[in-house]
Amino acid sequence: MASPPPIDFDKIRENSDGSLGSMIKSGFTEVISNNPYFAAGGGLMVLGTGLALARQGIVKSSGFIYRQLLVDLEIPSKDKSYLWFLEWMSQYKHRTSRHLSVETNFVQHDNGSVSTRFSLVPGPGKHLIKYKGAYMLVNRERSGKLLDMTSGTPFETVTLTTLYSDRKLFSDLLGEAKQLALKAREGKTVLYTSWGPEWRPFGQPRKKRMIGSVILDKSIAEGIISDVKDFLDSGEWYHKRGIPYRRGYLLYGPPGSGKTSFIQALAGELDYNICILNLSESNLTDDRLNHLMNHIPERSILLLEDIDAAFNKRAQTEDKGYTSGVTFSGLLNALDGVASAEECITFMTTNHPEKLDPALMRPGRVDYKVLVDNATEYQVRQMFLRFYENENELCEVFMNKYRHLQLTKVSTAQLQGLFVYNKSNPQSAIDMIETLQNPNTVF
Ligand SMILES: Nc1ncnc2c1ncn2[C@@H]1O[C@H](COP(=O)(O)OP(=O)(O)OP(=O)(O)O)[C@@H](O)[C@H]1O
Ligand SMILES: [Mg+2]
Repeated sequence: MASPPPIDFDKIRENSDGSLGSMIKSGFTEVISNNPYFAAGGGLMVLGTGLALARQGIVKSSGFIYRQLLVDLEIPSKDKSYLWFLEWMSQYKHRTSRHLSVETNFVQHDNGSVSTRFSLVPGPGKHLIKYKGAYMLVNRERSGKLLDMTSGTPFETVTLTTLYSDRKLFSDLLGEAKQLALKAREGKTVLYTSWGPEWRPFGQPRKKRMIGSVILDKSIAEGIISDVKDFLDSGEWYHKRGIPYRRGYLLYGPPGSGKTSFIQALAGELDYNICILNLSESNLTDDRLNHLMNHIPERSILLLEDIDAAFNKRAQTEDKGYTSGVTFSGLLNALDGVASAEECITFMTTNHPEKLDPALMRPGRVDYKVLVDNATEYQVRQMFLRFYENENELCEVFMNKYRHLQLTKVSTAQLQGLFVYNKSNPQSAIDMIETLQNPNTVF
């Protein structure tokens, strides 16, 4: 390796005014300018600083350009439009994504049968799409740390980025996605169930149940339907008088008499969805109940099943030593506290009306109560003719035998079981009528 040139002290003396300070300064300059290592290092330093500055400049200006030219839309997984968007993406023809994830759904067909459908939705990562001539970058991100405590799944966000000038396409796109989702629900009823503190659709929207397919005793159905319709037409009346716009219905009676089925059919008739909550669920607490009842999706009927469960609280804690379940006061508070701007229709069902506390029956909590009992002769006849159309003569034979056996405690669910088993053979249903004497017969 070549050694650096010797320091020329005479030259230093020449360039200085003779003082020590001046000599040191001039010596330093001499060393720096003549030493090739220092010279090369300095050059590199200048170059490095220049490059770093340039890089910073590019980052800053690209950030500036990004802010000026591009626009982001963030859709968190908690937002309703999140699922709409993913569904839209899965149907979008021009998608160029190569990373898909599968979502399995069950679809109910018009004939009632259910089949499985796999939707290929864009997986986590970046996808480029072209929508109405504009490019959009879709970034589906999964939070590594945050878990949605309600579902145990990671929080996700989808971020759409496009040119600022194309920002209005975002609302077009979300509108299209919403329409697509609503079209899938047309003529269907969405069943919501509780999922932690929130309501989530339970399976795919179901085909509406025709109200005529639930056969209640004479005028029971008509009475409820006209009361609900009258209530829905009276919004202004309630608001003018400052009365909370809600109405509570209680259907009580033995198992299998059609309480739940009727409420589901009613929701279809009114074009409402249904939020079902079973109070005997062990992990339901007063707080969750209250929260759920105050966050009901729009146009939904709230259905509280087995409300007598709230009256067993003491027995539950003493016997099993846990404090899950809803208390009676929790239920009353939740019913009173429903403070929604929109109408609120609550249906409650129970098999044990005798267990209910009178405080529940006060108007404002239960405004309309009705017994939905075991089948009357009128219902038996109607059910028979619904299953075996125009078989009037056989219907009379069936009814005579029914009376002869003095069957009084037969539920409509039992009748349905017998008729479904003998789908295309009314005579065989007549022959098997004795099975109705045992409510636990399994065909
Ligand atoms: N009145 C009815 N008309 C037509 N079908 C009925 C009727 N009652 C019961 N069913 C049929 O029986 C089955 C059970 O009915 P549903 O669940 O509505 O009874 P429920 O009164 O809610 O019983 P539970 O008190 O046990 O909840 C359903 O498949 C339904 O179609
Ligand atoms: Mg029921």
